[in-house]
Amino acid sequence: MEPRQLKSIRRWFEDYTSGYYRQCGKLHQLELKERHSRRVAENAGLLADDLDWSDSDRCLAVAAGLLHDIGRFPQYRDHGTFYDFKSVDHGDRGEQALREDFPKDLLTPKEFELIAMTIREHNKKDLPQLPPEDLAMLRIVKDSDKIDIYKVVREHIQRGEQDAIYPGLGPEGELSLPIIEGLLKDKKARYDQLRTLSDVLLFQLCWVHDMAHRQSTKLLWNRGDLEWLIDRIPSTPEVKPVISQVMEEISRATGI
Ligand SMILES: [Fe+2]
Repeated sequence: MEPRQLKSIRRWFEDYTSGYYRQCGKLHQLELKERHSRRVAENAGLLADDLDWSDSDRCLAVAAGLLHDIGRFPQYRDHGTFYDFKSVDHGDRGEQALREDFPKDLLTPKEFELIAMTIREHNKKDLPQLPPEDLAMLRIVKDSDKIDIYKVVREHIQRGEQDAIYPGLGPEGELSLPIIEGLLKDKKARYDQLRTLSDVLLFQLCWVHDMAHRQSTKLLWNRGDLEWLIDRIPSTPEVKPVISQVMEEISRATGI
């Protein structure tokens, strides 16, 4: 993809979001998604640089990052929520929006299908069964998306607005045993077991194990997002082994 194509895609995204602001008013929730999309695009560019991708693939990754959440706009307009289980799957809805609203001549058919797949699959638990070269775009977008969520969570908590992203959580300081055990055993925990803010922070810290690229963990480390989480999580004897696993991953990624 040429840089001028990326420029046209940026312009289309601008028009697309403006269209929703005209219909729904300049809703704060939609603005947050617009800004998130732009930052995910930026993260995808940084990772593509770090991974030595060609200029053309880099542009495509930036475009995929920018477009990955376009389903959020019709989702919020039609259902007033970002909860997929209460409304629609925003990956599927995004693919539909791309097919309906995106000008086909801005991408080659192959690029178009790659971006459609990336949008559809970015929020799914497992990667689809596709050749590795097709998955590269999806993996970079999933990492870029996660990287931005660290920032969003940190900023909300620093402003004391955790209720806006995690309503109804128990107080910070206590950690639930099933979470610690799950993270220790297979580096995973179930969302429905998260009870306290500290559970959420530990769970989020352990996303470093899910990153497709070590460069993603390195970027988070350099931004201070991981250290911020580690400092904030109560360092009880039960938690220490979980943190050690995370530290090992960080050392692998950063070479520290
Ligand atoms: Fe996203």
